[in-house]
Amino acid sequence: MKVLVVGSGGREHALLWKAAESPLVERLYAAPGNAGMEALAELLPWRGEVEILADWALEEGVDLTLVGPEAPLVEGIADAFLARGLKVFGPTQRAAMIEGSKAFAKGLMERYGIPTARHRTFQDPILALEYLEEVGVPIVVKDSGLAAGKGVTVAFDLHTAKQAVANILNRAEGGEVVIEEYLEGEEATVLALTDGEAILPLLPSQDHKRLLDGDRGPMTGGMGAVAPYPMDPGTLRRVEEEILRPLVAGLRAEGVIYQGVVYAGLMLTKEGPKVLEFNARFGDPEAQAVLPLLESDLVDLALRAAEGRLAGARLSWKEGAAACVVLAAPGYPESPRKGIPLHLPESPEGVLVFHAGTRREEGHLYSAGGRVLNVVGLGKDLREALERAYAFIPRIGFPGAVYRKDIGRRALARLST
Ligand code: AMP
Ligand code: GLY
Repeated sequence: MKVLVVGSGGREHALLWKAAESPLVERLYAAPGNAGMEALAELLPWRGEVEILADWALEEGVDLTLVGPEAPLVEGIADAFLARGLKVFGPTQRAAMIEGSKAFAKGLMERYGIPTARHRTFQDPILALEYLEEVGVPIVVKDSGLAAGKGVTVAFDLHTAKQAVANILNRAEGGEVVIEEYLEGEEATVLALTDGEAILPLLPSQDHKRLLDGDRGPMTGGMGAVAPYPMDPGTLRRVEEEILRPLVAGLRAEGVIYQGVVYAGLMLTKEGPKVLEFNARFGDPEAQAVLPLLESDLVDLALRAAEGRLAGARLSWKEGAAACVVLAAPGYPESPRKGIPLHLPESPEGVLVFHAGTRREEGHLYSAGGRVLNVVGLGKDLREALERAYAFIPRIGFPGAVYRKDIGRRALARLST
């Protein structure tokens, strides 16, 4: 098979690496890919136009396309491929609205009784501020549109909450704000493969969204992840029965066949798991921790999902755990510095490095984005996985690299209780 991976981040490098071990694969392509993906695939220069890529894939005879990021999905890349009779692993534009519109996702959760934070939506700042006075703090204020995880304020005082509302609603172009109940608990991610009917949850994982140790500093795309996150079997069953199943079935009842990966961002509260957000794709960096533990053939699974044949498929997993530590450029997330020379020695046994924002020029490697490298440690348990990742990082030449020193600390604490 000829397989194409769309995207250029650490998640896509992990997808490509996993696809490369499939006996079904004869040829791999990545669009646009990054410097770490060169050794595995032919890289296509691509600037994000979905129709152009679909035309190319048709001409080239690509058998299956795996889409990594949300932007092309929300733009309709799956629709463009399907319209040409091409197989694609990733939801259509309509289905991707579970990520593209918080208002749509909230509506869906309400209609199908999926547990989530209570919320209200406002366009009028006066009404929004009145509501804030009424409900008080702690409270969460969100921008309704796609904001790359950066449109959220968790406010513990009324002034901060009002400021966040003002920032969203007082823009010239207008806006919509979601004000929602503050949920307390541990955060976790459950990804699941689906063909619109059958659902296969992957190992639970945990992201680290804040820039700094101790979950301080600004929100980022994700600074590290561990898998498996120690979720008790009862909770995992509830995630499947109360969240994933009603979501996919609800969409189907409304005429939307969701095919691809569902990402459930969860708060594990005292009352049970509740949804913080849905995404229409693998998490980044969750994929970098989860995929190396998957024993099953990802390409076979993705093909089954694309063809509506996922029922009856089973997942097998490797023993042990994985920990991904993200190395970001100085200045991330506000204004990451690009063009920093990188020196990357060969990784030892039990360590994988997935590239994100990197480029190669005349044989030399340079940073080319915010999140630059993902160092993944694999071990018999989480402690060993973390030790391996952190032991390798000092050997990487990356002046000014920003990374968290406490990835996995919460999961370790949970394991030891
Ligand atoms: P989101 O992009 O909606 O997942 O929000 C980003 C982050 O904000 C989440 O990962 C949580 O850490 C936090 N957050 C969002 N919604 C809530 C909530 N209702 N209660 C507490 N924390 C929240
Ligand atoms: N790691 C968070 C996300 O992929 O949205």
